[in-house]
Amino acid sequence: MNTIDITTPSKKYPVFIGDKVIDQLNVVLENLNPSPKNLLIITDENVGNLYLETVQNVIGDAFTYETIQIHAGDDQKSFENYMACQSFALSKELDRTSVVIALGGGMIGDLAGFVAGTYMRGIRFIQIPTTILAHDSAVGGKTGINHPEGKNMIGVFHQPEAVIYSTDFLTTLPANEIRSGFAEVIKHALIADENLYRSLRASVKSIDDLKGNSLQKALIQGIKIKNEIVTQDEKEKGIRAYLNFGHTLGHAIEGELQYKGITHGEAIALGMLFALSLKEDTEILGQELKMWLRTLGYPSFPKHLSASSLVNRMKKDKKAEKGMIQMVLLNSLGKPSLSPFTSESLERKLSSFIEEASKE
Ligand SMILES: NC(=O)c1ccc[n+]([C@@H]2O[C@H](COP(=O)([O-])OP(=O)(O)OC[C@H]3O[C@@H](n4cnc5c(N)ncnc54)[C@H](O)[C@@H]3O)[C@@H](O)[C@H]2O)c1
Repeated sequence: MNTIDITTPSKKYPVFIGDKVIDQLNVVLENLNPSPKNLLIITDENVGNLYLETVQNVIGDAFTYETIQIHAGDDQKSFENYMACQSFALSKELDRTSVVIALGGGMIGDLAGFVAGTYMRGIRFIQIPTTILAHDSAVGGKTGINHPEGKNMIGVFHQPEAVIYSTDFLTTLPANEIRSGFAEVIKHALIADENLYRSLRASVKSIDDLKGNSLQKALIQGIKIKNEIVTQDEKEKGIRAYLNFGHTLGHAIEGELQYKGITHGEAIALGMLFALSLKEDTEILGQELKMWLRTLGYPSFPKHLSASSLVNRMKKDKKAEKGMIQMVLLNSLGKPSLSPFTSESLERKLSSFIEEASKE
């Protein structure tokens, strides 16, 4: 088992990562002070079917727990499910000592974290991530839900008590979810670690290479990069924005597709390619990345999406300022920066990007 200590200004907590580290859950629960009156496990139906029993067996009789299982899919990170979880928590008389357990990928982590961050003005929660992508989402304390007007528009910063990342849970991920999560690993490498990027490019030739020790090593490196950034800028006043590399367009693509038919990371991968195309210095890197992503089976740009509706969504991005869309670009590998664009100029660039993509 590996332990990474996350040190944000508001809270320090461990990430336990390794095969079968789910057994750490009891240790974490027993060390909580005050001891929780009861627990609320929030999961989705896929993860629930696969791992709920394992988690319940680990808890055993040590604590009483309630479970709420919601449908899977990013469109479930909704007001309706937020309300359902709050009503359920109230009906089961959770109090301020109670603890929410987020068992699932980033969708569940964000939703359950937001439920915990706002129930009775905030109760504790534990992240049990079950996707590769969640090496990113489970760390750093951003929680929230989607609004029809935009992704992750409603939320709070709320750090977990611990992250228990049992990598044996990752073996059941379908191929598109492996790709989705790996896109965020690539993002971490691109914005912060040239060596990591180069070694991943050299070693990951197909998504079947993403397993076992090499996967775990990449996840640990990704978590360390995220930790370094959130330690310096927990509430995204500055450099944390770099973690949004690829996300301004990626979120718009997800929104236009109504969070269906493309995974989060696949959309982010397209957003990263667009961001790299915006600067002459990174065009070659972008071409190389495109070839690599293609070999790994990432989808190409959905050709029916229009630049103007995507840019309309990008204007609502949380980083947008005074009518300018802030894009995270790379000056070079590992060196991100923020660049403002008018919507008109971004739309022109996106139109040509989509046109190029549709020729392929
Ligand atoms: N809070 C943050 O800092 C942050 C960072 C990045 C992404 N996110 C959010 O994370 C979400 C995406 O997370 P995700 O990609 O984990 O999606 P997800 O939670 O929707 O999971 C993807 C799919 O995989 C299934 N699944 C999960 N674990 C599984 C397992 N072990 N075996 C088989 N199937 C499994 C789920 O049921 C779902 O169908 C987005 O909502 C995104 O906005 C948040």
